[in-house]
Amino acid sequence: MLTPAELRIPDHGTGGTEDGDVELLRRFAESVRKRQETMLGFPVNLDFDYRVLADFLSLHLNNAGSPGQSSEYGIDSKPFEQAVVAFFADLAGGVPGEVSGHLAHGGTEANLFAAYVGRERYPDAVLYASAEAHYSVPKIARMLRLPHVPVDTGADGAMGLDALARELGQRSDRAALVIATIGSTGRGAMDDVPGIRRVAAEAGVPGVFVHSDAAFGGALAAFGRPPRPWAFADGADSVSVSGHKIIGSPVPSSVVLARTADVGTVRQPDAAVGSDDDTVAGSRDALSPLLLWYALRRLGRDGLARRVGHCLEVTDHAVRRLTAAGRHPSRVPGSNVVLFDPPTDDVMRKWHLLNQHDHAHLVVMPHVTAEHVDRLCADLS
Ligand SMILES: Cc1ncc(COP(=O)(O)O)c(C=O)c1O
Repeated sequence: MLTPAELRIPDHGTGGTEDGDVELLRRFAESVRKRQETMLGFPVNLDFDYRVLADFLSLHLNNAGSPGQSSEYGIDSKPFEQAVVAFFADLAGGVPGEVSGHLAHGGTEANLFAAYVGRERYPDAVLYASAEAHYSVPKIARMLRLPHVPVDTGADGAMGLDALARELGQRSDRAALVIATIGSTGRGAMDDVPGIRRVAAEAGVPGVFVHSDAAFGGALAAFGRPPRPWAFADGADSVSVSGHKIIGSPVPSSVVLARTADVGTVRQPDAAVGSDDDTVAGSRDALSPLLLWYALRRLGRDGLARRVGHCLEVTDHAVRRLTAAGRHPSRVPGSNVVLFDPPTDDVMRKWHLLNQHDHAHLVVMPHVTAEHVDRLCADLS
C-alpha cells in the first residue's frame, strides 16, 4: 500500500516524465489488477477495457449545462450523452419527447437530481424510502430539507406496502415523494413501483412523485426472469441507472431520467456558458458518455440481457455451492446478491466480502464467474 508520504508532491516538479513516477503508477495499477481478481463483494462490474479511448486522456471536453445544447465552450460529448440517455429512456419505457435526462457523476447525484425535481413539483412533500434504501437517501433529505420517513421492509427486503400505507396515512395532508429502490445495495431487493403507486392513491395524499433508484438493479429488473416493474410504464416519474455497475466503467456515472415537464421546472436559461442548465453539477464529465456509448454500442440490448442472464446463472450456481458447503445462503427474488454465513476474516478479506448484520455478501456482477465461486467455496472448506 502506498503512503501519502511516498506520494508527496515536491515544491520543485520534475518538469518532465519521471521514470520513477511512471514505474510507481505501473506498480500501483498492477496491485489494483491483482486485488480485483478476487473482487466478489461489491456491486461494480470489472469486466471492461476502454484503453482504445486513451486519446481522450489528452483532450478536455466539458458537458456543462443541458445535454441538448452546446455551450460556448463548444467542445463536448453531448451527442454521445444524448445517445446514452436515449438508450436508457427507451429501456425505461419513457415516451419519446416526454422524458429527458443527463449523465450525473454517480447514483447519489442522480438521486439528488430526482428528489430536487420531485420537491419542486411538491414543495411540501415528505420523502418516503425503504429502510434498506441507499445511504444517499437520508443525506439528500437533509440537503433538500425534506422530512424523511424510512419505511419498514418485508422478508423479501422490499418496502412493505402495508407499512407505507400506515406512514402515508399518518401524513395524509402532505404530498409524497417516494424513492423506490430497484436493487437495494445490501440485498438487491426490488421495491414494487406499481404497488407504491396504488397504495399512495388509496391514501389520498395530495400528490405523489415516485423516483425509481435503479442504480444497481435497473438492468436486472429489465432483463430478469421474469422482468420486474421498475420504470416509467410502471408508474415512476424519474429513474436512475448507474454506469459503473452492470455496464462497467473506470469512473462512476449514472443516467438520470425524468419527465420533461418536471425537468423544465429546474431549468436555468442560459446559465452554463451559453447553455441552459438543468443539471446539478456545473462542469460535467464528458468522458463517461464516451465510455458508456462505446460499451453500449458493443452490447446493445441483447448484450445487456446476456450479461444479466450470466449474473443470474452464476448466482444460482453460488446458491447451490454455498448450500452444499453448509453456509445457509439466502437470496431475495430477482437478485444477484447472496448472503451466507461469514467465513474467517482471511477469506472475507481475500474475496472482498462485506460483513453486514452477520452475513457475508456475495455480489455476482458480470466479471464474476462460476469458477470464482468454486474457488471461494474451496477456501471456505
Ligand atoms: C441503490 C443505490 N442507490 C444509489 C447508490 C449511490 O451511488 P454512487 O455510489 O454512485 O453515488 C448506490 C450505490 O451503491 C446504490 O446501490
